[in-house]
Amino acid sequence: MVDGEKKNRRGFLQVFLGGGILGYLGMILYPVVRFMIPPELPEAGVSSVLAAKVSEISPNQSKIFKFGRKPGILIRTPEGELKAYEAICTHLDCTVQYRSDMQIIWCACHNGQYDLNGLNIAGPPPRPLTPLEINIKGDDIYVSPTA
Ligand code: FES
Repeated sequence: MVDGEKKNRRGFLQVFLGGGILGYLGMILYPVVRFMIPPELPEAGVSSVLAAKVSEISPNQSKIFKFGRKPGILIRTPEGELKAYEAICTHLDCTVQYRSDMQIIWCACHNGQYDLNGLNIAGPPPRPLTPLEINIKGDDIYVSPTA
C-alpha cells in the first residue's frame, strides 16, 4: 500500500467519524434545545368574561376569577364601587389578593402593595396593575380588557 493512499483512507475515516459524532450530538441536543425554548403561543384573545354576580360581592370583598389564561381580581370597595384588574403583580408576576383589613391589594410574594386604584404604593412593584373594564348586565358582572 502506498503511503499517500493510507493518508487518504485515514482522512476519509476521520471526516466520516467526525460527521457521525456531530450528527449524533445534534440528534441529542436538538430536542433538548427545542424543549428549553418553547414556541410562541398566541395570547388567548379574551374579549369579555363573566366575573361574578352583583349579589355575590359585598362591600369590602373581592373575587379572583379566570381572565383567559391570567387571573383577574374583582373588588367591591368599602364605598361599594366595583374595580377590576389583572391579578398579576407587576414585580415578578405573583397573583395579588385583596386585603380587606388594610383595604389594599397585596402581593404576598414580597409584600408589594397597591391602592384600590391599582397604583403601586409600597414594596417592589414597579408599576400599577393593569385595569380591566367592568360592564354590568342585570345581575352579571362582565369584565373585559380596557380599550
Ligand atoms: S412578585 Fe409581587 S411583590 Fe414581588
